[in-house]
Amino acid sequence: MSTGRKLRYGILGTGLIFGKFADAFRLTSEASLMAVASRDAERARAAGAKHGVPRAHSGYESLVSDPEIDVVINALHNGLHCEWTVRALEAGKHVLCEKPLGCSSAEVEKMFAAAHASRRWLMEGFMHRFHPQIAEAKRIIVTGGIGRVLHIRCHRTARGRDRDNPRYWRDAGGGALMDIGCYCVNLSRFLVGSEPKRVAAHAHFDNQTGVDLTLSGCLQFGEGVTANLLCSMEGEPSYPAEIVGTDAKLLIPHPWLPPAWPAELYLTRQGKTDVIRVEPDDMPQHPLAPFALEVNYFCRCVRENRAPQFPPDVDAEHDSRANMRVIEALLESAREGRTVNMPTGSA
Ligand SMILES: NC(=O)c1ccc[n+]([C@@H]2O[C@H](COP(=O)([O-])OP(=O)(O)OC[C@H]3O[C@@H](n4cnc5c(N)ncnc54)[C@H](OP(=O)(O)O)[C@@H]3O)[C@@H](O)[C@H]2O)c1
Repeated sequence: MSTGRKLRYGILGTGLIFGKFADAFRLTSEASLMAVASRDAERARAAGAKHGVPRAHSGYESLVSDPEIDVVINALHNGLHCEWTVRALEAGKHVLCEKPLGCSSAEVEKMFAAAHASRRWLMEGFMHRFHPQIAEAKRIIVTGGIGRVLHIRCHRTARGRDRDNPRYWRDAGGGALMDIGCYCVNLSRFLVGSEPKRVAAHAHFDNQTGVDLTLSGCLQFGEGVTANLLCSMEGEPSYPAEIVGTDAKLLIPHPWLPPAWPAELYLTRQGKTDVIRVEPDDMPQHPLAPFALEVNYFCRCVRENRAPQFPPDVDAEHDSRANMRVIEALLESAREGRTVNMPTGSA
């Protein structure tokens, strides 16, 4: 793969996230969206035509074996992340796979084993990480801007999809925690900067499908630091994250995908609130810029043959593993009605 030319991406799937990526690719400087694949040939053709994607593949195998593609974005439902990520890696592609990386720790292990065996890079697609407001929030915290962190509160709730959507399939990584609570787990762990020692959760499970429609969880970190998260696919949308410290509190109203630039953070100290405005320094001020920043970052990792890192000094592989372990523990707690200690060594 030559340095300097744009990397050629292909996307598996024509769902909601395909459309967002297709629009975001117009903002990227390092990649071109060359192909899309669907189970259905006509759906692939229509999606490609609508978004100006040159090649439409009938079937996922056709795209992962396309020699003109360098990187595959796995935008299929969660139940197909492991299978098609492994198949793309085995076909020699680098893979940016949508969150959550797999449906279980076992799947995540299998996916990274395939990446190592094929000497290709695999990264979980958490686009919120690439919005500069997240780096700014972390900077404020680690430089003592709110004192010692006591507690994080993190919400991501949304209205449900049609009941036939894979989000309601229990054996295919369905449920609110897998779908959107995974963001809250990721952000809490990132902002605290360590792994929880134990977790507890309560959930409203769907009678028919068994998936968690709403889940409220508590992560207990060391030294008394806690995080409460709320995720739901049956509620009024609610997004904020708030970090309470001994000296001040920091509110991130839209931690996942702010609707506009500049993004705003609110830092409150002794009743006085300062607004911190965050803008991208190398990207048009478009709401989908975090997706483009994510793609550009992955391109640099591929070109320079270096591991994606998140947080900046930790291999993203470690982060994906740790995130899935916490998700599994929260679900175990909610299903069994008890606090779950995290395995030693995960902290
Ligand atoms: N980062 C973000 O902001 C964000 C936002 C939304 C979703 N996501 C993630 O992106 C992935 C896709 O989500 P989505 O909302 O775009 O689509 P979705 O409705 O969750 O998933 C459907 C996708 O899977 C494919 N598929 C294969 N077999 C299927 C089956 N039996 N039934 C239904 N669909 C099937 C469909 O593609 P074809 O029918 O064309 O083959 C379609 O693209 C998920 O992992 C989700 O977590 C991320």
